[in-house]
Parts: sequence; structure tokens; C-alpha cells
Amino acid sequence: MADIICVIGNKGGTGKTTLSHMLCQGMGLLGQRSVCVLTDTYREPLDPAGRRYLVADARTREALGKVVDKVRSLKAWMGVIDGGGNRTEMDRKLYSVADLVLLPFRDSHEDIRTVVRDLEMFPRAYAIPTQWPTNIWQREAADKTVLDLLAPYGDRLLEPVATLSATKLLLQKNIPGGLPSPLGNACRSVARQVLDLLQITIDDSFAVDSVSAPAANMAALARPASALAA
Ligand SMILES: Nc1ncnc2c1ncn2[C@@H]1O[C@H](COP(=O)(O)OP(=O)(O)OP(=O)(O)O)[C@@H](O)[C@H]1O
Ligand SMILES: [Mg+2]
Repeated sequence: MADIICVIGNKGGTGKTTLSHMLCQGMGLLGQRSVCVLTDTYREPLDPAGRRYLVADARTREALGKVVDKVRSLKAWMGVIDGGGNRTEMDRKLYSVADLVLLPFRDSHEDIRTVVRDLEMFPRAYAIPTQWPTNIWQREAADKTVLDLLAPYGDRLLEPVATLSATKLLLQKNIPGGLPSPLGNACRSVARQVLDLLQITIDDSFAVDSVSAPAANMAALARPASALAA
């Protein structure tokens, strides 16, 4: 059975959409098939061409039900559902269907207060720091803030996703060919964390970091696309 991962949280702009696409791209680079599911009615679907994952449009309740059922029926696939922010009702629904729930947050007190509320509301969810500073002093300050304010949730805190300008490329409607390798590395790293949590082991041939696409993997991704289009 497929695993459903939901990226949710009450605060807007925390990086839910970016993280969802990074995760799927990383899964693809690690040989894992995935589909990134759009639920935000204020956004448009992105072109799947050139991505290492499929994209699905689930902006209506019926479409979401269909996509979740379809992903679940596919063996060894993973569905990553990008929640919308500020929609507690939707977050609760997504939480109820998910095998793993991620709550991205930035290093502001407001984001952290919101993620604490979300961690309380969703006891199975994990918080993941995003857009994390790369400057050493800022990073130290951000880590200290987390230590101070999120100490009781230490066992539900994942490794941060650093600020990386190239992540914007994944959210372009059409992604450019030849994505920069730091982006691939960041995507793989976040995907690995999630695969570990789900206790999924990756094929040894994908264990070594490689920037080039295994052609067989792309072909495998393309095949079940029609199955998701219904
Ligand atoms: N790791 C990152 N490095 C650099 N910029 C990032 C990163 N993650 C997100 N961003 C930027 O932060 C902004 C918000 O990100 P994103 O759209 O993914 O958030 P969101 O939670 O989906 O927002 P919304 O609540 O509007 O749906 C965007 O401009 C995005 O490019
Ligand atoms: Mg979004």
C-alpha cells in the first residue's frame, strides 16, 4: 500500500508547497515514485514535465478523495499532499488520511507558537524547520530559539531544511532542465529523513548521491501517470 504524507500547518508561507515538491523530487532521486498533490484552491497545478514525480490536482473535495484512493491503490508509491495553510478544517481531514504528517515552520516566534499549537492538535505530526538560516550566527540563534521554545517536542523535531534560493525553481510552472546539484542534495536529504520515519529502505543503487537521472526511474514514473489522471 502507498504511504500518504501530508504537509500542513495553520500558518501561511512556512514552506509547505516548497517542502512538498522538494520531498517528491528527492524521492524521485532516490528511486521512489511519488505524486505531489495540490489542494490549495488559490494555486494552479504545475507542469509535471522534467520533474521526478507526478503532480495531481485535488483542489475539490471529490478530486482529493479520488487521488488519495488512487495513490493508495498503487503499490510502492507515495503521495505527498500539500495543504493550504489557515484551513484547520482541511488540515484535520488531511491528518486523518495521512501516514505521516509534517508541519514546516520558520525561525520566528510566531511560527513557533503556531507550530506548538499544531503539534498539540496533531499528536502524530512532526515539526520540520524550514528556510533555516545558513549564516553561522543566525543559525545558532535559530537553533537556540527552537531549543528554548520547542524543548518538550524534541522527539518530534526533524532536521532543518536550509534556505536555498534554488528551491524556487521547483515551484516554477515549468522547471528548467539541469537543476543545480545543491538543490538535488537538499531534496534527497529531506526525502531520506522521511523514508527513515516511514521505515522504507531505498534500493542500494540510489544510496550513492548522484545528480544524473537514472533513465529507468523516469520511465517507471511515466508509466502509471495515466492511472492518476482519472
Ligand atoms: N528552503 C527554502 N529556501 C528558500 N526559500 C524558501 C524555502 N522554502 C520556502 N521558501 C520561500 O518561502 C516562500 C513561501 O514558501 P511556500 O510557498 O512553499 O510556502 P507555503 O507554506 O506553501 O505558503 P502558503 O501558505 O501561501 O501556501 C516562497 O517565496 C518560497 O520560495
Ligand atoms: Mg503553498
